[in-house]
Amino acid sequence: KTSGDLFPPDFLWGGAVAANQIEGAYLEDGKGLSVSDVLSDGIFGQILDKPDGEYLKHQAIDFYHRYPEDIALFAEMGFRTLRTSIAWTRIFPNGDEAIPNEAGLEFYDRLFDELLKYGIQPLVTLSHYEMPLGLVHKYGGWSNREVITLFERFSRVVFDRYGDKVKYWLTFNEINMMLHGPFIAGGIYPDQATEQVTYQAIHHQFVASALAVKACHEIIPDAQIGCMIAGGPMYPLTPKPEDVLEAMRKDRENFFFADVQVKGKYPGYILRYFRESNIDLDITEEDLKTLKHTVDFISFSYYMSYCATTDPELNEQSRGNIMSAVKNPYLSASEWGWSIDPKGLLYTLNQFYDRYEKPLFIVENGLGAIDVPNEKGIVEDSYRIDYIREHLVQVAEAIQDGVEVMGYTSWGCIDIVSNSTGEMRKRYGFIYVDRHDDLSGTFERTRKKSFNWYKEVIATNGKII
Ligand code: BG6
Repeated sequence: KTSGDLFPPDFLWGGAVAANQIEGAYLEDGKGLSVSDVLSDGIFGQILDKPDGEYLKHQAIDFYHRYPEDIALFAEMGFRTLRTSIAWTRIFPNGDEAIPNEAGLEFYDRLFDELLKYGIQPLVTLSHYEMPLGLVHKYGGWSNREVITLFERFSRVVFDRYGDKVKYWLTFNEINMMLHGPFIAGGIYPDQATEQVTYQAIHHQFVASALAVKACHEIIPDAQIGCMIAGGPMYPLTPKPEDVLEAMRKDRENFFFADVQVKGKYPGYILRYFRESNIDLDITEEDLKTLKHTVDFISFSYYMSYCATTDPELNEQSRGNIMSAVKNPYLSASEWGWSIDPKGLLYTLNQFYDRYEKPLFIVENGLGAIDVPNEKGIVEDSYRIDYIREHLVQVAEAIQDGVEVMGYTSWGCIDIVSNSTGEMRKRYGFIYVDRHDDLSGTFERTRKKSFNWYKEVIATNGKII
């Protein structure tokens, strides 16, 4: 029996993108500015109050206008699901309007209808680094409790509108990145992101996420809604007990976010951390009741693993998208220095399942690389095929361990703008897009070698891996 036989028949194969990295049309049909629209060079660049020129994301790959062509290509690969986000600013341009923007709502009607035409299930993230800039300027982002109500309003509007079209939802993308990218994840300027402010904002997101879960269950009883965590385990750099405990501590910086959303309460280790760090949060009795609305499944991104040590001498760093950590000497890395560790995915799946016993969904995984088309204009991306195959082998291993895996959506299934660096030359797709860092390009789409390979993976339900 090959490992492929072990993927369940209804396994949700597909791809993943996010509105701000793919759509473009950043001011069209009434859309307002979001936090992503004012970062010229990705999340580590300057944060402006308004754009001072044209950035790649403003037009991105023009999915807003070209989605029928792209969805036809996804359908050709046999996608069973497409993960994307609803740009909050298309629906509520400043975030606090009383009435939603009908033109924005209509765009997602058309998009979801197009997916369903091919039997592709939309998997929709409510908030993927796309907070309305209006909420940042007027309310201080997620540090302000009032934003909870505004997010709940947005969630209820989209559940009401798309309830018959969308049966899989996610609340906050990589919610644990609040600790590492407070502006992109929470609309909080880095110089204001003290631990007190950041954890209060995180608490507000937890309550908002739980209210979205409650609303989703009320409005679309046959839907499932999950949390979304940036995955990647922490390995102790050595067997020294101090390193093992340091790895546990670092792992818990991520697990904390799933613990609250899956178990519905704050774990003891974080309450202790708050006490000992003089972090005093405003958490009401009502909030604690709300948190009991826990998620149906856990989704996560997986790109790499990390190492932890207490030894200050052993601190050579390896980069990640938002986090960086101590380098693992046993692993190779991508062109952007991200460690490559397929077995870490098996480890992560087992860690999550042992801890929560809830269905898991890998909603991001892939290789960002520089793709150069050959003389025939084709990208021969065998390196991407190898990367994804090696990770899928480990997914099959986890399924053999009894882990419930709902699906796998490869990140950036079509080339899009990078989140961390704001570039186009860092490509993840099965489909090449002629669009470049200097804003040039025809936007033409071309199938890469990996396109036909992934199509075969899906057609055989994973047997060919
Ligand atoms: C995740 C994000 O952190 O990683 C995506 O959810 C992002 O938005 C992806 O694009 C890959 O990171 P990058 O920086 O290579 O685009």
